[in-house]
Amino acid sequence: MTTKANAPAGTSAAGLRGVAAATSSISDVNGEKGELIYQGYNIHDLAEHSTFEEVIFLLWNKRLPTSSELSALERSLRAAYEVPGEVIALIKQFPRDTDPIDVLRTAVSAMEFYDRDARNISREASVKTAIKLTAQFSTLVAGADRIRRGLEPVPPAGLLNIAANFLYQLKGERPSERDARIFDVCLILHADHELNASTFTARVVAGTLADMYAAVTAAIGALSGPLHGGANTNVMKTLLEIGAVENAEPYIKKALAEKRKIMGFGHAVYKTEDPRATHLRKFSKETGEAAGDSKWYEMSRKVEEVIMREKGLFPNVDFYSASTYYMMGIPLDLYTPIFAVSRISGWTGHILEQYADNKLIRPRAEYVGQRDLTYIPIEQR
Ligand code: COA
Repeated sequence: MTTKANAPAGTSAAGLRGVAAATSSISDVNGEKGELIYQGYNIHDLAEHSTFEEVIFLLWNKRLPTSSELSALERSLRAAYEVPGEVIALIKQFPRDTDPIDVLRTAVSAMEFYDRDARNISREASVKTAIKLTAQFSTLVAGADRIRRGLEPVPPAGLLNIAANFLYQLKGERPSERDARIFDVCLILHADHELNASTFTARVVAGTLADMYAAVTAAIGALSGPLHGGANTNVMKTLLEIGAVENAEPYIKKALAEKRKIMGFGHAVYKTEDPRATHLRKFSKETGEAAGDSKWYEMSRKVEEVIMREKGLFPNVDFYSASTYYMMGIPLDLYTPIFAVSRISGWTGHILEQYADNKLIRPRAEYVGQRDLTYIPIEQR
């Protein structure tokens, strides 16, 4: 083991598991108890009683809003739904088969060009940028989906909240109240999750005092991986491959025997049920019943039962969100961008927190290479 001058030997932890790499009051995960809190409030209470907009205020301001503060934030968000026309024109030039999460990443990076205040990272200016980004993610994701289908983006409906406006812009018609509320709670559940990979990425970039667009662009890149936000799309692909409830048990047993990972199961922190999965399981059932198609919910229950029996693994946030979104008629490859439509609230909250008390994030690596080698000229090797 190599000792660093300013780091004790043996401090490296694979994947930084168990290492507290920042202090934060935004959210906390208790993996043993299966508990998630945002600024002190239990996720179950927020899922039951709150709205995504109220949660955004909470994440950014460390407390719940008064009703006038909430109305003011809702007004600012709704006034910012529109995306610069140049960015929509840019998206129209992308290949039609580009993965929507990559469209979002590049669009967000480009949005910086059209925000003259982007480089201003004072709290006041950063909150304005956070409002713009949080409001515009749903417009970008829904617009990108329509553009690739050869349709014009639907202009945002300034009277709707983010959840209902997203479904409206995606489909061109107002969602039912039930779908809008379920989607609103999905946004609450995905809003923040302590130092997950994409949030850590956002904080590392913000820690260099790069602007919010740079930090969020990097975070989207981290989210896109199959071990993070990419898992939900792969869950639905697996369910479609299984095809029928009676195939679930043999399919999963075979996959486990082949040492394949089943997407939507296991978690780096939770050692018991992911509290978000509790709500999403219910939504999967509700949306299935409402659509008169409970097959995907029943198949998911069977998969869950087999994986619990065989491996003792619990479903994570991605497992039941897949069948919920599928029953809401949302295309598979939008599940990860939808994660971002919610998580932008947490990313921006963490960036604000990082800017407020910044220290460049610069850990050490535990060097395992050779030392003191003699350089041999190339013609003698
Ligand atoms: N399917 C099958 N086996 C799994 C599994 C899964 N989804 N998740 C973990 N395991 C098994 C591993 O194979 C390993 O078994 P072993 O000890 O016999 O080798 C053991 O459980 C520990 O897995 P490991 O990958 O080391 O745990 P981790 O804490 O580092 O990983 C994840 C956490 C999330 C990366 C991992 O569970 C995973 O890849 N899940 C699937 C992807 C996913 O759903 N991601 C979204 C997370 S919210």
